[in-house]
Amino acid sequence: MSSQIIIAIDGPAASGKSTLAKLLAKRLGLLYIDSGAMFRAVTLAWIQKTNGHKSEADAQILDEILSAFNIEFLDNSKTIVLNSNDISTAIRDNQVSQLVSYISTFSGVRSKLLDIQRKLSSDQSVIMDGRDIGTVVFPNADFKFFMIASPLERAKRREKELAKRGERINIEELAAQIEERDRQDSSRAIAPLKKADDAIVIDTDNKTIDEVLGELLMRVSTTQTSN
Ligand code: DC
Repeated sequence: MSSQIIIAIDGPAASGKSTLAKLLAKRLGLLYIDSGAMFRAVTLAWIQKTNGHKSEADAQILDEILSAFNIEFLDNSKTIVLNSNDISTAIRDNQVSQLVSYISTFSGVRSKLLDIQRKLSSDQSVIMDGRDIGTVVFPNADFKFFMIASPLERAKRREKELAKRGERINIEELAAQIEERDRQDSSRAIAPLKKADDAIVIDTDNKTIDEVLGELLMRVSTTQTSN
């Protein structure tokens, strides 16, 4: 294995990907890149221009946004800066969550972000989480994980996250929003949410974060020693 390591973690919304990717990155001393934050950043910029109203001009509007799109990932993706503005909190708004799947279907958005994702990882070891990391962004990643959890568990996690920000949405509504996002992410024509054939499925239901982290570390160290 080369000294550069790429770990891809994919899975549906609120399956625990980013929590585990961050912890794994810390334990292994690798850079963590949150690819969903890139799609959220484009969505936020689009909402600021359009108030969230979809139209036939969207491809053109998105091209304009992407022509001046300078995104920075600071402190292992804790702080996301777009064109010098800290957007770390704003990209987690529920309005962004509900519109991001629509924005992620545009080919111009996907190709620009694919370019950024590959450039960020061109000369360093990274853990990147998203929907198409193991299938499209890094089909040759050293390790590929696909995280899953039941819809109820995922809605509970998102409810907690939103409550911390003072947003309250009932759990049934959240479960419906998450299912709709997964439906859109899995059914889009370009780079849909999909398990790579060689990805290891990690079911996070009824497991503590430490248990899942242990499972990931075990997989990585076992494979590394057997190589
Ligand atoms: O991981 P997240 O929930 O923050 O991702 C937000 C959205 O971004 C997700 O619903 C679809 C899109 N996305 C994508 O299309 N491809 C990726 N690699 C990552 C995210």
